[in-house]
Amino acid sequence: MNGPDIPLPIGPPIRRLASGHGVVQEHPRVPRRCVCCVLRCIPENEILTRPACIETEAETKTATATAMQAVNGIAAKLMSLTTEPSYKFLIYGRTGWLGGLLGKLCEKQGIAYEYGSGRLENRSSLEADVAAVKPTHVFNAAGVTGRPNVDWCESHKVETIRANVVGTLTLADVCKQNGLVLMNYATGCIFEYDEKHPLGSGVGFKEEDTPNFAGSYYSKTKAMVEDLLKEFDNVCTLRVRMPISSDLQNPRNFISKIVRYQKIVNIPNSMTILDELLPISIEMAKRNLTGIWNFTNPGVVSHNEIMEMYKEYIDPELSWVNFTIEEQAKVIVAARSNNEMDASKLAKEFPEMLGIKESLKKFVFEPNRKTPAK
Ligand SMILES: NC(=O)c1ccc[n+]([C@@H]2O[C@H](COP(=O)([O-])OP(=O)(O)OC[C@H]3O[C@@H](n4cnc5c(N)ncnc54)[C@H](OP(=O)(O)O)[C@@H]3O)[C@@H](O)[C@H]2O)c1
Repeated sequence: MNGPDIPLPIGPPIRRLASGHGVVQEHPRVPRRCVCCVLRCIPENEILTRPACIETEAETKTATATAMQAVNGIAAKLMSLTTEPSYKFLIYGRTGWLGGLLGKLCEKQGIAYEYGSGRLENRSSLEADVAAVKPTHVFNAAGVTGRPNVDWCESHKVETIRANVVGTLTLADVCKQNGLVLMNYATGCIFEYDEKHPLGSGVGFKEEDTPNFAGSYYSKTKAMVEDLLKEFDNVCTLRVRMPISSDLQNPRNFISKIVRYQKIVNIPNSMTILDELLPISIEMAKRNLTGIWNFTNPGVVSHNEIMEMYKEYIDPELSWVNFTIEEQAKVIVAARSNNEMDASKLAKEFPEMLGIKESLKKFVFEPNRKTPAK
């Protein structure tokens, strides 16, 4: 790649010496140098003892062009040191929610990417992907989450282990062997409020806390794999929770879910606003950050608070019915986790990150507003 043409500095006109050398500098503190001798780095004391080296204007032009090429080469090198390195992401989860959004983000940001075609638990297929794509970073947004919901995992335990434990570990290991950072979208649904982290206390679970929720098989496998992944220094574990995006038509969106449920619980929780945090995960990859990260916006928001926002911004006629956790337990198979995560580690790395309620308004409700602004 060539840098922009940088003109040589315009100096005083060349004055010819009797020897035939042309003087380019007449500043009192700068020795007299002939232009072609300077360009060829001939020591000053040898200049006037050598045969004339500027014979013709053509020779001067050739020397100048050579110098221009050298300057351009240096400029290009300097530019390559200051501009962003080029990235190539290999993403797993092409047909999934987060994986689909990641691809769109890469397109928007002009980052080269390809989706992995291998299955997570099939090591040779992952190795073939890495060999073909030659990525700088790998993103794992693949795994079983259950359809229509995580209750599916209760009756498909082997399939859940295969993708979420065997598969995720296999991908981490293939990345490790290839010297690649793996950005792994994990879950924060491995914690539930307890006596040290009571609901409403503002005391959230930290990255180093040991998971205390295994009420669903999905969460159990996610906690198991997170523990094993700690040994892989190339893995960045992003604990996503109750993800929300500005696409309110998406049935996977936490908001779309609670708006269509007949009854909802009302519990404050930490949540992940994907429109704000997925770009942050890309930036984390560029910074080669690894280890465990609570990947939620700071603070908590309750179901009813979100419904109130929905009423204010989208549908003033919205109404809903609350029920208790005990009543909820009767209509679901596996228990659900409710917790507050401490997002201070992420906030320290990204101080511009918004609190959960501000982020909800800015990234989700404002762009979808249907009611007149007050
Ligand atoms: N959505 C949530 O509420 C939520 C919350 C917290 C954390 N997360 C985590 O975030 C990640 C992405 O979630 P998501 O909601 O985007 O999931 P999703 O919509 O269910 O998509 C899952 C993706 O994983 C792929 N996949 C499943 N098993 C695979 C395997 N063995 N090998 C390769 N690909 C496989 C699926 O592809 P196929 O269709 O081809 O199988 C699909 O593309 C998951 O690990 C999930 O646990 C999600």
